[in-house]
Amino acid sequence: MTRLNRTDRPYDIVLFGATGFVGTLTAEYLAAHAPEGLRWAIAGRSKGKLERLRESLPGGAGIGVLEADVADPASMRRLAEHARVVATTVGPYVTYGEDLVAACADTGADYLDLSGEPEFVDRTYVRHDARARETGARLVHACGFDSVPHDLGVYFTVRQLPEGVPLTVDGFVTADATFSGGTFASALNQFSRGRQMLTAARDRARHEPRLMGRRALAPTGAPRFAKEVGAWAVPLPTIDPQIVKRSARALERYGPDFRYRHYAAVRHLPIAVGGVAAMGALVTAAQLPPARRWLSDRLKPGEGPSPEKRAKSWFSVRFVGEGGGRRVFTEVAGGDPGYGETAKMFAESALSLAFDDLPPTAGQVTTAVAMGDALIERLRGAGITFRVAATR
Ligand SMILES: NC(=O)c1ccc[n+]([C@@H]2O[C@H](COP(=O)([O-])OP(=O)(O)OC[C@H]3O[C@@H](n4cnc5c(N)ncnc54)[C@H](OP(=O)(O)O)[C@@H]3O)[C@@H](O)[C@H]2O)c1
Repeated sequence: MTRLNRTDRPYDIVLFGATGFVGTLTAEYLAAHAPEGLRWAIAGRSKGKLERLRESLPGGAGIGVLEADVADPASMRRLAEHARVVATTVGPYVTYGEDLVAACADTGADYLDLSGEPEFVDRTYVRHDARARETGARLVHACGFDSVPHDLGVYFTVRQLPEGVPLTVDGFVTADATFSGGTFASALNQFSRGRQMLTAARDRARHEPRLMGRRALAPTGAPRFAKEVGAWAVPLPTIDPQIVKRSARALERYGPDFRYRHYAAVRHLPIAVGGVAAMGALVTAAQLPPARRWLSDRLKPGEGPSPEKRAKSWFSVRFVGEGGGRRVFTEVAGGDPGYGETAKMFAESALSLAFDDLPPTAGQVTTAVAMGDALIERLRGAGITFRVAATR
């Protein structure tokens, strides 16, 4: 791998999609927490909206503005050439995202997004991982609530367990929060693309090298009452277990035989059953174009929970790790998962890629592999809890 020389690029970080719901929160976070001398720009398709956003940000005069539209691949190339790190919130990524990944892989710019879309992540692996390895670009997907607390939480848990032995970790997610129009649109789009998602996963499996001499698995667990956390555990079919599995494949520290299972933890059985039924109904409705249109009209892109609602929202992910005769209980917790904390995780990931002394990686990498301890320290400093609750 030869990392292209990127020091002559005008910006350390370019935030694309800065005028959207999470984009604006991320821009506000960066403006409030930018280290001295950070060279950064906001990018999007509407110059007027970008100018208005810049005026509203502290230190706005020092923030660049770049116009770019996903329908114009040359503008994606310009973004990549202008930045050491490009952070994009423009989703659904499977619809809008690929040209920017290609441009970053080709120009050696680091890339990060908020994608929780397995089809997109598998597709970019097959098409752009090899080129990114050549140029030294790090392509880091899922840098929001999908999948930072889970990926880094498992990484943190594994580090409390003995080395060189088989390990199992179970993650139990609880949260009180609502979602934005952008998230809802991405989820509906994903639910309607089950066949394409399977095809992309199979294609990836054909391209990905086999793991030699070790095992790293993320099987779907069975619904059960989990005594260890005192709640009903319902398997969560998000991208998170796939991301954790990739970290386990890449990092020897996860041991010779690693297994992760990912659950929602629900205190009362009727709520668990109702949640599964509601999710099933949503997935079914997403298959029918008229029902999908009706649903997507309920919550428009750019809309999201109010500051009051976000202030009351919270998340907690509890992990139970076992191996080598030791059992450890850990927790990652914070405020509003989808937006306040996602913007924080996203901005801190961009700053980490731009400035931290990180292990030498390239190609499609997870947050644990690319940033690991450095990102945990940043998030702790920003108020997200990573703690060991008990050890046995
Ligand atoms: N858990 C997580 O990790 C997590 C949490 C939150 C969100 N997300 C994901 O993040 C993404 C954004 O969510 P959101 O709620 O912020 O959505 P949003 O408010 O709809 O914002 C989307 C952004 O994309 C921009 N955009 C749309 N079409 C474009 C085009 N042709 N060219 C350039 N820019 C374009 C929009 O620009 P305009 O402002 O000009 O319309 C806007 O800035 C979604 O995919 C969502 O699923 C993930």
